[in-house]
Amino acid sequence: MKILAIETSCDETAIAILECGGGKDSARFKILGNALLSQIDIHKEYGGVFPALAKREHVKNLVPVFSASLEEAGFLRGNTVLLNETLRDSLAKILEREMDLFEALYAFLSQTETPDIDAIAVTNGPGLEPALWAGVNFAKALAYAWGKPLIGVNHMEGHLLAALAQTENEDIRIENVKLPVLALLISGGHTELVLMREWLSYQILGATRDDAVGEAFDKVARMMELPYPGGPEVSKLAEHSRSTYRTSDVRYVLPRPMIDSENMDFSFSGLKTAVLYLIKAKGSLTDEEKEGLAREFEDAVSDVLWAKTAKAIEESKAKTVVMGGGVSANIHIQRVFREKMAQTFPDVELRIPEKEFTTDNAIMIGIAGYLRALAKDYVDSENLKANGNLSLA
Ligand code: KG4
Ligand code: ZN
Repeated sequence: MKILAIETSCDETAIAILECGGGKDSARFKILGNALLSQIDIHKEYGGVFPALAKREHVKNLVPVFSASLEEAGFLRGNTVLLNETLRDSLAKILEREMDLFEALYAFLSQTETPDIDAIAVTNGPGLEPALWAGVNFAKALAYAWGKPLIGVNHMEGHLLAALAQTENEDIRIENVKLPVLALLISGGHTELVLMREWLSYQILGATRDDAVGEAFDKVARMMELPYPGGPEVSKLAEHSRSTYRTSDVRYVLPRPMIDSENMDFSFSGLKTAVLYLIKAKGSLTDEEKEGLAREFEDAVSDVLWAKTAKAIEESKAKTVVMGGGVSANIHIQRVFREKMAQTFPDVELRIPEKEFTTDNAIMIGIAGYLRALAKDYVDSENLKANGNLSLA
């Protein structure tokens, strides 16, 4: 089965076309087309993502990204969709709040054949609601024009399932997964420990009470006058400190919020504030001091993430642990998890996604969409809504 997947929950406009096969515990995927346009350069100027601006960019980028993905999949040739007044009116109604997108899509469809695609999967939450709506309405318009079924995908489920995937010569496979799976989902908007006892059934064991861990990285980066998104920048400084560390470097000590608490919840705003006070107290930081601070910040984050994950493994008897979301690209966090898992839980398998699967993309939405399709989890167009706070459980 072929799935076209759309992701617009934050600052990436992404569309992938996947050829999917196998059952839920032995799923295989081939990427036929994959296009992504990042808005990072636009949001960089403001040091963060503004929802209305993000939506405007998605509206502008969706058709070009769509076209690139179809072209890569070899779907841009032959007959065209039969356009008529009724179709035009219906598409205009679906995209009435995105008229620019309607114009671009209509012009595009008039030159494109209906591709050999079986279903359309789209992220309908969580994320920035205006941005989500752009993708959702685009998916509805396409589903209508092509007469294809729709699947709504939870972005976090996409991160979780994609984190289980293993790549081998162009083939993506999700196999030999031992349940229960415990997922640590860490991104710019989320910090959650999620338990999957059975396929596609979730329990949230713990979550952040304030800032998401990626948000903390981004805010700390801003305090250190590093560009957005801050995670990779903080990581670079910290790694430099680790490779050149001298005792003459200033050694900072930051708090590890909630590390000893009984629950599996997180809190990162105190840690962020501690960094702020430290920088304020010093006035300005030398490059070496910045590196030392970035390193201690990463150490504090890793300590807390590990402590809570270890607790969750013990309590849930998980057999597999995965990390997903943008922050799971962090090499120090990965290193800490590899070491600690091998020491403490040698019988539990750790899966860490490949770099292209950690940050937002449409492939993960296609993967989750396929598993949802296997469960016949389709949704009628009128019932598909964007929900910025969509939860996994
Ligand atoms: O999953 P994602 O692409 O988008 C959301 O759904 O939020 O995650 C983006 C977040 C940003 O906060 C970014 O700073 C962080 O992931 N991030 C990192 C790294 N790469 C991306 N944080 C720490 N270390 C990294 N290497
Ligand atoms: Zn994400």
